[in-house]
Amino acid sequence: MARLDGKVAIITGAARGQGAAEAELFAAEGAKVVLTDVLLEEGEAAAKACGGLFFHHDVSSEEGWAQVVADTVAAHGRVDVLVNNAGIFHRAKMIDHTLDDFRRLLEINTVGVFLGMKTVAPVMMEQQAGSIVNISSIAGIIGAPGSIGYGASKFAVTGMTKTAAAELARYGVRVNSIHPGLINTEMFQEVVGHDQTRYDRFAESTPFRRTAEASEIAYLALYLASDESSFSSGSEFVADGGVTAI
Ligand SMILES: NC(=O)c1ccc[n+]([C@@H]2O[C@H](COP(=O)([O-])OP(=O)(O)OC[C@H]3O[C@@H](n4cnc5c(N)ncnc54)[C@H](O)[C@@H]3O)[C@@H](O)[C@H]2O)c1
Repeated sequence: MARLDGKVAIITGAARGQGAAEAELFAAEGAKVVLTDVLLEEGEAAAKACGGLFFHHDVSSEEGWAQVVADTVAAHGRVDVLVNNAGIFHRAKMIDHTLDDFRRLLEINTVGVFLGMKTVAPVMMEQQAGSIVNISSIAGIIGAPGSIGYGASKFAVTGMTKTAAAELARYGVRVNSIHPGLINTEMFQEVVGHDQTRYDRFAESTPFRRTAEASEIAYLALYLASDESSFSSGSEFVADGGVTAI
């Protein structure tokens, strides 16, 4: 038996990067996967590659969330897993960070996660079962110099995860957060300006002296999505090559 047999999973920001890796792994482990993203062509291609459904969806839209959850239930009858993975990064020192950029980070990284949990929770409560996995960051655990808005948005995810976990525990719904370190995706490539020398310098500053591939986070998300993590809720799961250990 595969690890997600019979489960229906919604994964946001799944057109590429970690979300696409999670969709691929979840599908390989037996889940029916629903991928969402603002990137239409890449999202459709990612869904086709793993036999999933794709919905064009901006996570900051409340109406969009209602549609995604309704369409998923119409297609598959239930929602067992939600991975709130979609996110953006913005690099700027605090004194240079504009209010507009700060608000945009909160709108997508924080409000998007809030809306996802709020919209899917009634379905999971009715089922008396479900697992919500929120993708935060090590920037949701320690300070993130040069990205105060991103850090604020990800610390908020850490906090919301614990509140939602406490509220939903009695309904058999678990909520946990994942805190990746440096992951080799487009987001990190943009941080280093697609410059291999800068990339290597970042990687070598970590205890493991490397970044992770998206699949290394997908395996952690798989564990939290599956019934194997049945006694975990409201917890932070760090996968950062030892960055926060020192
Ligand atoms: N790459 C890293 O080093 C790293 C480290 C820690 C945490 N994270 C987090 O991991 C998650 C996945 O990022 P990634 O590394 O795969 O980067 P990525 O940029 O490759 O993927 C992010 C995805 O989110 C989508 N997205 C952005 N705004 C959206 C919106 N409003 N609605 C729907 N989708 C939207 C993008 O189109 C993209 O497909 C993010 O939440 C990110 O903050 C990344």
